[in-house]
Amino acid sequence: MALPEHFRAFQLHRDDTAAPVVGRFVDLALDALPPGEVLVRVAYTSINYKDALAAAGLNQIVRQYPRTGGIDLTGRVAQSSDPRFRPGDAVVVHGFGIGVDHDGGHAEYARVRADWVMPLPEGLSLQDAATLGAAGYTAALCVHWMEHNGLAPGGLPVVVTGATGGVASVAIDILAGRGYEVVAVSGKGDADGYLRGLGASSVLDPGASAPSGRPLDKGQWAGAVDSVGGDMLAWLLRSAAPDAVLTSFGNAGGAELHTTVLPLILRGVRLIGINANSPMPLRQQVWARLAGDYRPRHLDRIAQAVPFQALPEAMARMRERATRGRMLVAME
Ligand SMILES: NC(=O)c1ccc[n+]([C@@H]2O[C@H](COP(=O)([O-])OP(=O)(O)OC[C@H]3O[C@@H](n4cnc5c(N)ncnc54)[C@H](OP(=O)(O)O)[C@@H]3O)[C@@H](O)[C@H]2O)c1
Repeated sequence: MALPEHFRAFQLHRDDTAAPVVGRFVDLALDALPPGEVLVRVAYTSINYKDALAAAGLNQIVRQYPRTGGIDLTGRVAQSSDPRFRPGDAVVVHGFGIGVDHDGGHAEYARVRADWVMPLPEGLSLQDAATLGAAGYTAALCVHWMEHNGLAPGGLPVVVTGATGGVASVAIDILAGRGYEVVAVSGKGDADGYLRGLGASSVLDPGASAPSGRPLDKGQWAGAVDSVGGDMLAWLLRSAAPDAVLTSFGNAGGAELHTTVLPLILRGVRLIGINANSPMPLRQQVWARLAGDYRPRHLDRIAQAVPFQALPEAMARMRERATRGRMLVAME
C-alpha cells in the first residue's frame, strides 16, 4: 500500500485552558501521528456523543491538544511492526483512549497500539462495523449482560431510553430481533415511525419519568437500556419489575442519581454498569455476536451518512439533540 506524504485530519485545538476548543481540518505528515505498531488507513469512522462533547471542549474529555477526535474507526492496515497484523488486513478499533488521549478516527490515517486492534469480525463489512462502532458494541454489551443475568424474551417489555440515539437505536434493533417486546422512550415527537421501524412496539414521552414521590411504582420492565441517567434512571429503577436487569451506560440527561435502595432489596432489581472499553477477549466475543445472533436487521435505517467536511456541523447537531441513529463518515 503506497503511503502519502500528508493526510487530512479534523484536529481539535485549545490555545490555553481558558480558551474555547476549536476544531479545524489540517494536512498532517504521517510522522505527526502518535506512536503505535499499526498504521491504519481509515475507511470509516463515526460520531459518538463523546466525540461531539469533546469537540466542544465539554466534560474535560480531552486534556491534551492538539488532538484528532473519533473514538472508533474501521479500515485496512497500511503498515505493521506487529506480527499479528499485515498490510491489507481489515480491522476495527474503538476505545483504549483513541480520540481522547491518543489521536483517533477523524482522519484518513490513524496509528495505534497493536493490542487495541481487532480483526474485522467475519460476516461484517467495514461499513457495517463502523455503523455499529463503539455505540453498537455498547448496545450489544447491554444485551449480553442482561441475558447473562437471566433476561429472556417472552416476559415483560425491555425499555430503551434516549431511543433515537446511536446506542439506543442499535439496542432496539437487536432486542426486537431477538423477540423482546421493546418500549422506546424518546423526547423527539416525530420519531414514532423511525422507532417502530426498528422494532419498538410502543413509544413513550420522557414525561413518563417525572418524579412520582414514591420509592416504588408499578413494576413494568424486565430489562432496561439507559442512555440518559438522572431522573430517567431513577424512574427505571422504581418502575422495574421483580428480578429485572437494568443496564446504565449513559448520562445524556445528567450524571446525578437520586433514588432509594428499595427496588434493589425488595424487588431484587439488578443495576449493571456498562463500560464499553472492554478487554479484548470480551470485545471479540461480543463483536462475534454482533456479526451473528445479535446482528441488527436495520443498519441501513440507523446509518446517517455524514461527509467528512461536514463533521463539525454534524457534531453540533448531535449536541443539540437534533440527530438520530448512527452518524457514519466514509473516509475513502
Ligand atoms: N459507558 C460507556 O461505555 C458508553 C458507551 C457509549 C455511549 N455512552 C454514553 O451513552 C450516551 C448515549 O450515547 P450515544 O452515542 O448513543 O449518543 P446519541 O446518539 O447522541 O444519543 C443520545 C440520546 O439521548 C437522548 N438525549 C440527548 N440529550 C438528552 C437530554 N438532555 N436529556 C434526556 N435525553 C437526552 C436523545 O434521544 P431522544 O431525543 O430520542 O430522547 C439522544 O438521541 C451518552 O451519554 C454517551 O456518552 C457511554
